[in-house]
Amino acid sequence: IKFWAVVPAAGVGKRMQSDRPKQYLELAGKTVIEQTLTRLLDAEVFSAIAVAISVEDPYWPELELSRHPQVLTAPGGKERADSVLSALKSLQDRANHDDWVLVHDAARPCITSEDIHKLIATLADDEVGGILALSSHDTLKDVQDNAIVGTLDRRHIWRALTPQMFRYGMLKVALTEAEGNPMITDEASALELKGLKPKIVEGRPDNLKITRPEDLALATFYLEQQAAR
Ligand code: CTP
Ligand code: MG
Repeated sequence: IKFWAVVPAAGVGKRMQSDRPKQYLELAGKTVIEQTLTRLLDAEVFSAIAVAISVEDPYWPELELSRHPQVLTAPGGKERADSVLSALKSLQDRANHDDWVLVHDAARPCITSEDIHKLIATLADDEVGGILALSSHDTLKDVQDNAIVGTLDRRHIWRALTPQMFRYGMLKVALTEAEGNPMITDEASALELKGLKPKIVEGRPDNLKITRPEDLALATFYLEQQAAR
């Protein structure tokens, strides 16, 4: 059984409102995507990393990591799920049906080896796989037309992070069947549609997704804090 990483990196980063996609903004001396890929390489478990890159992306070829022997490039798609499926297909001739794939957002540069290995160790004997997730500290409200109609039971609510770890064959089938469905915003939801039940593994709270401008400062802080441990 081999482990493969798939990194969707073909988004435009609309909410970041910057001059370039957020994965190419600078974070602690490198671009965000270089931080992310370096951490995946440092985990020393992946046979290769397939990165989905937009076909119009001028920044990717400039990075040394784009020529790293363990880093493969696939064309990005319209939605995140399309990009992930494209990267999975690029592994077609190398990956086996039962191999594990860890899908990890390019925009999550604070992922630790600790969390990658925790996910793998917890799920290695599982049939379906699962995801890193965080419990919610805030009370969550069900709202319709600006008015609260209920309070969710927090014990049953988790926030989905990445990596999300599934079997190569099963994930490819699930994403292919779900193509075009706007509700598929992560890999787990594609498997849920098939009636499968991905597991939850508690992740670290510093594994944030860079989404808005203020997240860069927070990620800088987390990286410093991790380096000081
Ligand atoms: N992604 C992708 N292909 C897409 C859309 C998103 O590969 N068509 C990637 C992004 O590059 C990112 C990850 O999926 O690494 C998570 O998506 P998100 O945080 O939403 O990034 P963007 O879509 O780029 O940002 P926004 O939604 O603000 O435009
Ligand atoms: Mg998006």
